Amino acid sequence: MKVKLTETILRDAHQSLLATRMRTRDMLPIVEKLDQVGYFSLEMWGGATFDTCIRYLNEDPWERLRELKKHMPDTPAQMLLRGQNLVGYRHYSDDVVDKFVTKAHDNGIDIFRIFDAVNDVRNMETAIRVANREGAHVQGTVCYTISPVHTVEMYVELAKDLEQLECDSLCIKDMAGLLSPHEAHVIIKAIKKEVSLPIALHCHCTSGMAPMSYMAASEAGVDILDTALSPLSGGTSQPPTETMVAALAGTPYDTELDLELMAGIAAYFKRLKDEYRGILDPISEQIDTNVLLYQIPGGMLSNLVSQLKEQNALDKYDDVLAEMPRVRAELGYPPLVTPTSQIVGTQAVMNVLMGERYKVVPNEVKDYVRGLYGRSPAPISDEMIAKIIGDEEPITCRPADLLEPEYERMKKEAESLGLVKKEEDVLTYILYPAIAPKFLKGEAEEEVLVPVRAEADVCAPSSAIPTEFRVEVDGDVFDVKIEPTGGVVSIADAPAKVTPGPVEGAVTSSMQGIVLSIEVEVGDTVAEGDTICVIEAMKMENGVHTPHRGVVKEIFIADGDSVSSGDVLMAIE
Ligand code: CO
Repeated sequence: MKVKLTETILRDAHQSLLATRMRTRDMLPIVEKLDQVGYFSLEMWGGATFDTCIRYLNEDPWERLRELKKHMPDTPAQMLLRGQNLVGYRHYSDDVVDKFVTKAHDNGIDIFRIFDAVNDVRNMETAIRVANREGAHVQGTVCYTISPVHTVEMYVELAKDLEQLECDSLCIKDMAGLLSPHEAHVIIKAIKKEVSLPIALHCHCTSGMAPMSYMAASEAGVDILDTALSPLSGGTSQPPTETMVAALAGTPYDTELDLELMAGIAAYFKRLKDEYRGILDPISEQIDTNVLLYQIPGGMLSNLVSQLKEQNALDKYDDVLAEMPRVRAELGYPPLVTPTSQIVGTQAVMNVLMGERYKVVPNEVKDYVRGLYGRSPAPISDEMIAKIIGDEEPITCRPADLLEPEYERMKKEAESLGLVKKEEDVLTYILYPAIAPKFLKGEAEEEVLVPVRAEADVCAPSSAIPTEFRVEVDGDVFDVKIEPTGGVVSIADAPAKVTPGPVEGAVTSSMQGIVLSIEVEVGDTVAEGDTICVIEAMKMENGVHTPHRGVVKEIFIADGDSVSSGDVLMAIE
């Protein structure tokens, strides 16, 4: 039976290899060509693209969707949606999910691939129901991972649940590249026996097995394979489209797609890749068989590298890799995919950086243990629950049942801040309250792509060059940031953040991040361990606790400030 292909080059491929940085203006010239190939669908929205558009590219993701859609009349537009998490990092109330899915469909999404990080079908229900109501194609997703509780029977049961919810097709999502050819064959056969829906398979090449697994899946009756055109394939991305087309040619699974047409498109992306080479992390392009041990998905490895760079701790990479499986087991073996990959990954980073396990626990990790992300695949031990949330009782209901409708309230809030020009802006604000205001006010700037000399004698990627220095003058410490201006790298003359000199009772930041909120005022009395502010670091909200009790004498930070590790936040005497 003919196999169909979903092309991921406009979403997952550059999310996996180029930190999701591909600009809309670089996609538009080639969309019409992609539209001619005859793909089952073109994945081009959702996942991390929404976040990156706002955080780094100063682009409106809704505008990207409409623009791309205009140029692809023949190919269904597909997005990746994290169930109740949408494209954000927490659960949103049902009214927000409803609004988001409706708007995504209105703006051009034809196929919603909907998943939940812990495979809790209750977290997908609302999104599936709304997408069905809007007349979209719904692809219900099974996240594949390896653990003592992830059995073939479990996947089949989940597939049956998704069929019950009236999904139009299924996807087996192997975000870490862990699915072996044999397992692919066994699982697809088992699901096909019980469920009549078409099955898509989504693998990453990270461990090197994906092309073989695709072959085995084809022989087991898979209907759709996710591939990326060769320039952005392999490594932590998908298997190459052209290779799969050639490999299946002449078999009963022949895709019947035109390799010559693809060659022209691939040439375009090859040139484009050179422009983005500065952010292409060599680690992401390699086959890394360590994932077979650490089970870390594609996007997460390059994410981890940039997180550690941000915290000036790239030398801890191996320690964090080893810590990851321990944290994952302690948290009940969640599959590692957004947001559980961030939850497990950031906790592992914290455990290593702080030198003491679970000394700092991000709010998201606490919420996960509270059950607010859904049911963990395996139960979490009472000991771990007590360590992370004390004597609180985790919930057992559908997490979103506990959420009050929030759309209208947030809409008013966004309007009062003067952020709303269209309804979609409200959703952008709800999803990213910390970074959306600057973007929606038009004050954000596009991140500069640092060109790398082709004959570069430095093998380090450009982003590894330090850009922040601490300079001491007569006992006063100045933080100096070097920023590219007008294409020339120079020392920015202003504004350099001035850190106060020696401060009595100083409470310092242990991480690099953005101040999200300040929980105390000057004159407040605080006890040891009280939360004094919340810092967003590595996309997680981290409460900063005072190490000693006292009275707040001075506050050196304001909402929205960037802080580095070691910065003095407050004086508490
Ligand atoms: Co993926």
